[in-house]
Amino acid sequence: MSEAAGKVALVTGANKGIGFEIARGLAKAGAAVLVGARNAQAGEEAAAKLRDEGLDAQFLPIDVTDAASIEAAAGRIAADRGRLDILVNNAAVSLERDVPPSGADLAIMRETYEANVFGLVAVTQAMLPLLRRAPAGRIVNMSTGLASLALSSGRDAPFSFSRLLAYNTSKTAVNGITVQFANELLDTPIKVNAANPGLCATALSGGKGRPPGEGAAVAVGLALLGADGPTGGLYGENGQVPW
Ligand SMILES: NC(=O)c1ccc[n+]([C@@H]2O[C@H](COP(=O)([O-])OP(=O)(O)OC[C@H]3O[C@@H](n4cnc5c(N)ncnc54)[C@H](OP(=O)(O)O)[C@@H]3O)[C@@H](O)[C@H]2O)c1
Repeated sequence: MSEAAGKVALVTGANKGIGFEIARGLAKAGAAVLVGARNAQAGEEAAAKLRDEGLDAQFLPIDVTDAASIEAAAGRIAADRGRLDILVNNAAVSLERDVPPSGADLAIMRETYEANVFGLVAVTQAMLPLLRRAPAGRIVNMSTGLASLALSSGRDAPFSFSRLLAYNTSKTAVNGITVQFANELLDTPIKVNAANPGLCATALSGGKGRPPGEGAAVAVGLALLGADGPTGGLYGENGQVPW
């Protein structure tokens, strides 16, 4: 039987990029995938593309910055499926240019945090009751190596070149949020981890990087972790990434 047969998965921002590939990967593993998207046409088209490949995929409207939309999505999952096995918090924005923190635009920072941080928390809170109804819920939060303080601090750090105050620190917050939720859920079967897909060629990266399917594999693996798998960590294709 497929690894994820019978499981219900929601991927936010699944109409394109890495999110679409995560949806495809989970569906290929046998899951019934809810293709979360804020744009109905893009979401319908993405789900139809997966169905054309013989996969079980359905569009679910969800704008992670809109409380009513999140509530409606949770209500629909409850009514249609009764539970949620896998939540992948993938939706995110990167809105700034390469500017030093001293010149960063606070409006852009607020908009970035609204989607990447507050949106992720709101979706997680709304979906948790459904994840608790699943036998072994899994939450995967999309992060990045750029969020790692260990890999960014100091002249010789590999990511100290990066000047994306809003985006990078929003994902550092995602790392902290991952730990907080993992700790709250330690005495449950639910595992919460963050994924670093590495640089992938998508709209967000400006088309630079490797095929998004390769980055998606990290998140798919964390979504399908067995009972003996870890919780509360940040993982990339080569294993754990330092905070
Ligand atoms: N690409 C990389 O190199 C890279 C590296 C490290 C981490 N990541 C992370 O991987 C994830 C996916 O990124 P990507 O590169 O695939 O980016 P992408 O191609 O730009 O896709 C981002 C997705 O998020 C959606 N989204 C944005 N704001 C939303 C909102 N308010 N509500 C619902 N959906 C929303 C977008 O929807 P629309 O199409 O409607 O805009 C799109 O579906 C992100 O969390 C990103 O931070 C990416």
